[in-house]
Amino acid sequence: MEHQKFIVPHAATITKADRQRLNENKSAILWYTGLSGSGKSTLANKVEEKLFEMGLHTYVLDGDNIRMGLNKGLGFTAEDRTENIRRIGEVAKLFVDAGVLVSTAFISPYTADRDMVRSIVEKGEFIEVLVDCPLEICEKRDVKGLYEKARAGIIPNFTGISAPYEAPVNPELVVKTGEMTLEESAQQVIDYLVANNYINN
Ligand code: ADX
Repeated sequence: MEHQKFIVPHAATITKADRQRLNENKSAILWYTGLSGSGKSTLANKVEEKLFEMGLHTYVLDGDNIRMGLNKGLGFTAEDRTENIRRIGEVAKLFVDAGVLVSTAFISPYTADRDMVRSIVEKGEFIEVLVDCPLEICEKRDVKGLYEKARAGIIPNFTGISAPYEAPVNPELVVKTGEMTLEESAQQVIDYLVANNYINN
């Protein structure tokens, strides 16, 4: 882009490896994806509690701190969702660079958008977690009352009703939140992180 012509990146003296060493943990993105009401935020927060108790450096990016702040002004068209995920991906990458095990909890319905984020970090730094809960259950729970409004046509472009959700074909992890307790679901994520040497138990 024209305005980027005179931007010269400055090499950092303190590296990601230095920060990871100081923090005594590896850093990566735990990318939770799934329908509205599938339990992404709940699961991300439960897992973070466990990681925090283990003394790890963690952070959760989700709707409250992103769509109300950095991304306020973005809606739910395909273009806005793509931009939402692009910015979240860039922020998550900064967290990885800072030596933090960062979790993101967004519907992120498009495969191309998720793959784009995967492509901007190193191999092994993007852990895609499909929060797999059938639409019928999400809709029946309707925690925020949004499915009812979407069915009534009050909310347009609603994921699963009037907008698509492209489930990952090859995610690192599938958590069936409709069939397991929160504790079991969170433990499944922790077990994955231990088995793949992200953390020690
Ligand atoms: S994403 O598609 O861009 O990743 P994001 O996770 O940030 O979505 O926001 C989804 C949340 O916004 C939902 O859980 C719901 O509370 C709310 N929401 C409002 N309008 C919509 C809509 N049209 N589709 C999906 N979620 C919506």
